[in-house]
Amino acid sequence: MAHDRSVASPEYLRALPKAEFHCHLEGSVPATTAVSLARRNGVKLRTADPDVLYQFDTFEEFLDVYVAVSAAMTTPRDFAEVAYDCLTDAQRTGNLRYREMSFNPTNHPSLTYPQMLEGLLDGLRSAQADTGVECRLIVAINREQSPSVARDLVADVIAHRCDEVVAIGIDHNERAGAPAEFVEAYRAAAAAGLHRTAHAGERGDSQEVRDSIELLGVERIDHGYAVLSDPDLVTSARSEGIHFATCWSTGLLHHGGDPAAIEIGPMIAAGLSVSINSDDPPMFNTDIGTEFVLAGQSLSLTRDQAADLARAGLDSAFVDDTDRSRLHKVFAAEIERLDRELDGHDPTD
Ligand code: ADE
Ligand code: ZN
Repeated sequence: MAHDRSVASPEYLRALPKAEFHCHLEGSVPATTAVSLARRNGVKLRTADPDVLYQFDTFEEFLDVYVAVSAAMTTPRDFAEVAYDCLTDAQRTGNLRYREMSFNPTNHPSLTYPQMLEGLLDGLRSAQADTGVECRLIVAINREQSPSVARDLVADVIAHRCDEVVAIGIDHNERAGAPAEFVEAYRAAAAAGLHRTAHAGERGDSQEVRDSIELLGVERIDHGYAVLSDPDLVTSARSEGIHFATCWSTGLLHHGGDPAAIEIGPMIAAGLSVSINSDDPPMFNTDIGTEFVLAGQSLSLTRDQAADLARAGLDSAFVDDTDRSRLHKVFAAEIERLDRELDGHDPTD
């Protein structure tokens, strides 16, 4: 039986191939894993009850939990296991094909940067060998720490270059560290050929987005919702091709659970380049498949619109042209297969 082409069903939204550009390693630790890691490594969390650990009402409380869970990851093996599990889970539950995943090295003071990298690369390579999911890395600056910590971190990244680490980013509380403070770190990264992204305009105002683009030279913005309050900035972001890596469930936290207040639909309608991402999946009780289901249903996406959204970030991925065209081909074939399956054709004929 042919399905209604005009409506993207939850099954279709979940089955679409996904690429995401905004997902934190430390935010991807399931609560049960966080509790086991803390026990194994002798680190204290605010509770040993996994059902309670990820209960928070405010963004600040969320960041406290995020920092505590980061501190529970103390060995290369922890990094390998968390990376492997989160990638293979997202592949299995949401057909994740490609991710650029960030991590906060300075949230793990007991490990050196090369030690973290060793574990991460092990996890990434095993996940790709077992499921085909590809992952590159973004080293994130914690803006609540000092600009000199950020400069040292970038120096470490440059001293230990590897193909998988493609960019730097900046996260944590926008109210703590303005973009202007991190110009030197971003300049050093750019000079070394690293791509740049930044969390901005998540709760702060549009000036954060403007400063991230103009002072830090970012190519992408993580979140960026405040852009809508500045029509000139919308116009320039659109013409410069700045990409916005947005997150539905994080928006729900910021808007008291009200999907109608989420800015992602208006950003797409304004012609901005927008992708859907999972940010901190288990901490926000979501996964990349669920993010597409929530966004697709709330925005009443057609199948074609949903498929376009699934491909939307590929042009802004931090990859070379060969990899970009390979990813586009993989997505086109997968979407065609899905459409044929839903339209009642045998996908093998
Ligand atoms: N770290 C992890 N998730 C974050 C978010 N949504 N905003 C800022 N910092 C973060
Ligand atoms: Zn984030």
